[in-house]
Amino acid sequence: MSILDDPRFAGIKPFESKVWLSSPTMHGDEQKWVDEAIATNWVSTVGANINEIERQVAEYIGINHAVALSSGTAALHLAIKLAGERLYGQPKVGHGTLEGRKVFCSDMTFDATVNPVAYEGGEAVFIDTERDTWNMDPVALERAFELYPEVKLIVVAHLYGTPGKVDELRAVADAHGALIVEDAAESLGATYKGAQTGTFGDISIISFNGNKIITGSAGGMLLTNDGEEANKCRKWSTQSREDAPWYQHEELGYNYRMSNIVAGVVRGQLPYLDEHIAQKKVIYERYKDGLADLPVTMNPLGEDCEPNYWLSCLLIDEDAMASQVRGEQDVLYTTEPGKSTPTEILNAISAINAEGRPIWKPMHIQPIYRMNPFVTRTGNGRARSNAYIAESGFEDVGANIFHRGLCMPSDNKMTSEQQDVIISIIHRCFE
Ligand SMILES: Cc1ncc(COP(=O)(O)O)c(C=O)c1O
Repeated sequence: MSILDDPRFAGIKPFESKVWLSSPTMHGDEQKWVDEAIATNWVSTVGANINEIERQVAEYIGINHAVALSSGTAALHLAIKLAGERLYGQPKVGHGTLEGRKVFCSDMTFDATVNPVAYEGGEAVFIDTERDTWNMDPVALERAFELYPEVKLIVVAHLYGTPGKVDELRAVADAHGALIVEDAAESLGATYKGAQTGTFGDISIISFNGNKIITGSAGGMLLTNDGEEANKCRKWSTQSREDAPWYQHEELGYNYRMSNIVAGVVRGQLPYLDEHIAQKKVIYERYKDGLADLPVTMNPLGEDCEPNYWLSCLLIDEDAMASQVRGEQDVLYTTEPGKSTPTEILNAISAINAEGRPIWKPMHIQPIYRMNPFVTRTGNGRARSNAYIAESGFEDVGANIFHRGLCMPSDNKMTSEQQDVIISIIHRCFE
């Protein structure tokens, strides 16, 4: 039985072609640069497309150097390794740069933000989320330094395209002499007090993954003002070959460089970044207006910033939540008049051939990380059961947003008619 058989959804028909959460939008220029790479045989990890996008992105973001890599995750790995080397020096081969060290990390984010800490042998300490921008809470971060004063590295993400509380986070980091690795994978083009995200970290990264605001089909970049460090990352990303007549290796290497084909796609996309942002903003505002009469709020945009509106998200008011209990891989929910749940809305969205998604499940309640420390404004502890989170006064902002929130279809190729159907479906969930 489909959820559409419920009389509340009478008359609603699934879309003929799927409406995606956020899918690649090609414009044609990509083909030209890819063709040129093929025609000239520059298809590997050297070529004009790579050089050109490194120049263009550095200029757009306002940073001295951009290093083109195979993914945002690879960029995060090298950024975190670089930070680890700056702080603690080069480790012996077989040991990570962060071996035995704690690192403060965003909690409500994709696991790619934090996994590289583990690649380098470190232990992530998760910092709770604030409600104003859904990013790392500077108050919880300050508390974390009281508990772990020895920590010297912070990994911060800007979620869904909205910059976090950059000034407050930087003030806490500086007060404790800590470095910031900034994960701007989702926020390319967003600004805080007029400056681009990607300029706030001691080292920063962006992603060109297929679902991002622009894409290279894959790819990412490391951003830094330090030319020597940029070159070091280029070297690490190409197996750390020394400048010798033979294959000479003095440190660990990786196969992380971007290909000139991928760079051709990025090169074709870059002129459309601002257009994509404008389209996503229209989508966000249409949802905001269309859902204004429901007991829900949109993902907050924060002050002093202009987001890139990558994903439009919804948060159901606490007292408009029907019952929803999530296990590790399954979920149960009830239907109640005037109330709904993220699960019900996601099921309804899926039934009409559209794609939504739960909010990122916080890292501190992920099986892989639930034994890691977790610091909130009001306490510190480890994993809590969903029932505990729902019923106790323990303030776990990330888990609460995960419980009540969802990402709505935010594809810039979605028509306003399709978006109106989605808005209507969400209304019917609350009937
Ligand atoms: C916050 C965040 N960090 C890192 C990544 C990793 O980027 P990539 O997929 O390019 O490796 C992503 C997205 O994929 C992301 O959303």
